[in-house]
Amino acid sequence: MTSKILILNGPNLNMLGVREPEIYGVETLADIEAACRARGAEFGLDVDFHQSNHEGDLVTWVQGAGDTHAGLIVNAGALTHTSVALLDALRAVDLPVVEVHLSNIHRRGSFRRHSYVAQAAVGMIAGFGATSYLLALDALAHILQSSGTAA
Ligand code: DQA
Repeated sequence: MTSKILILNGPNLNMLGVREPEIYGVETLADIEAACRARGAEFGLDVDFHQSNHEGDLVTWVQGAGDTHAGLIVNAGALTHTSVALLDALRAVDLPVVEVHLSNIHRRGSFRRHSYVAQAAVGMIAGFGATSYLLALDALAHILQSSGTAA
């Protein structure tokens, strides 16, 4: 039984704060990480938080989480819409996945409406800016508590 969760961030999310703030908000990824750690602590969840611009890094982190983490929150950035490799990795580990997006991907260009990650996720939270991550954490904590996987 573990109470560790993994939050993964894909390409360009290291640019938050300066990247299209009218869409993604002014909070930096470090701000979001700190908020997630604080929220996780309220639920007794230890948060591992990573970002990479490289698809393979995300795949490797997901593969490694199978034995060490209780669940995953994933904002795959643009890889959401393109990465079969990430979908396959998420399906390969038997962990609950919550998909998260800062923006409402269904209100934007049509190419953003399709998500590969969604096919491996319990559910998706999108459109609430940095708060999306905290809502995703609430959802994952609820899932883990209901299944008796975490405190
Ligand atoms: C995003 C939405 C994606 O379409 C985009 O490519 C991103 C960020 C979001 O959090 O709103 O990089 O995942």
